[in-house]
Amino acid sequence: MTAPQRPRDPVRVEVALGERAYDIFIGRGLAASLGARIAALKPGVKAAIVSDAMVAGLHLPKIREALENAGIAATSIVVAAGEATKSFSVFERVCDGLLEAKIERGDVVVALGGGVIGDLAGFAAAVVRRGIDYVQAPTTLLAQVDSSVGGKTAINSRLGKNLIGVFHQPILVVADTALLDTLPAREFRAGYAEVAKYGLLGDAAFFAWLEANAADVFAGGPSREHAIATSCRMKAAIVARDERESGERALLNLGHTFGHALEAFAGFSDRLLHGEAVALGMALAFQFSAWLGLLPQAEAERVARHLQEVGLPTRVSDMSGTRPNADRLMELMAQDKKVRRGRLTFILAHAIGQAFIAPDVDATDVRAFLVEKLAQQC
Ligand SMILES: NC(=O)c1ccc[n+]([C@@H]2O[C@H](COP(=O)([O-])OP(=O)(O)OC[C@H]3O[C@@H](n4cnc5c(N)ncnc54)[C@H](O)[C@@H]3O)[C@@H](O)[C@H]2O)c1
Ligand SMILES: [Zn+2]
Repeated sequence: MTAPQRPRDPVRVEVALGERAYDIFIGRGLAASLGARIAALKPGVKAAIVSDAMVAGLHLPKIREALENAGIAATSIVVAAGEATKSFSVFERVCDGLLEAKIERGDVVVALGGGVIGDLAGFAAAVVRRGIDYVQAPTTLLAQVDSSVGGKTAINSRLGKNLIGVFHQPILVVADTALLDTLPAREFRAGYAEVAKYGLLGDAAFFAWLEANAADVFAGGPSREHAIATSCRMKAAIVARDERESGERALLNLGHTFGHALEAFAGFSDRLLHGEAVALGMALAFQFSAWLGLLPQAEAERVARHLQEVGLPTRVSDMSGTRPNADRLMELMAQDKKVRRGRLTFILAHAIGQAFIAPDVDATDVRAFLVEKLAQQC
């Protein structure tokens, strides 16, 4: 995607969780230091690297080398790429693989991949031998700014996504931004929706900075590290205050209520990637906030404009194939357990950078808003 760049100093972000605190390192070329960083935390350990076939083909050799150079013996467990890998059967394979590799309680699991691998390997690490430490080596933008931080791990049930899992914090996150150079442009763009989310939910200045610097973030210039570090800092601060999502952490769901319904409508398929659904969901959440009179319409338009500029969908008509109607979306939101006795929890906004949790939104309002929007957009 970009020309080679000179290495720059890594950025360190701490996730302040007391005895479970850990560091996130962000920088171009950091994969080479992964072994040394693990050895510094856990001298003399063995490691098992869990990855998917796509990522392993591109990046596993240099990760193995980085571990070996630090004296860490490593085995690897490679699973198929894709969301279907977050299943009971693949989970079983990973757990057995860790046991076959004689990974002991004091050893370490390295999750090398996107959110699928982070969630799967993190969950396996949480339960094999009643808990093994693990390290996140995220390779997608989404994983570097979101899923590798905060300790949520899970696999999917046939009844829904991410329903089987535990909180298990990693002991270290190493985000080598150069690994993103091999990421398909569409995946990078989808991950960017989560970056924009941090600005939209709590940092207007960051959103304005993104408006000015998105091109450099996409091109892999120095802005990329700044965008990832700022996102991680924000997620780390929220997680440190509300690890188990009893309150504030729900703000990270901005755009996800509408987004999940759209994603489910598209069958969690290539039709709409998670980040694309989140972009659309955020555009709708700001429009809904404006519809409710909480925020000027111009602010909602500014949100959509930036997302459109980087090529993300912001209108339901941007989806390919059949389009949902308001009733179908309401049904899907209800299945997502977001509707209770006709009331929904939404993340709304008073302004860009000022999102808040609205636990008691009337489903009738949501439906009326969707009917109006869908009529305009389809
Ligand atoms: N735990 C959390 O807090 C959390 C938060 C958000 C999302 N998630 C989960 O994350 C998952 C989505 O993560 P994702 O978007 O990273 O998807 P993913 O892990 O499926 O990766 C997307 C695709 O990119 C490929 N890929 C990854 N890195 C690459 C690279 N460097 N070069 C080339 N190809 C590469 C993968 O093989 C895959 O095909 C979902 O399962 C979601 O539920 C978890
Ligand atoms: Zn998300």
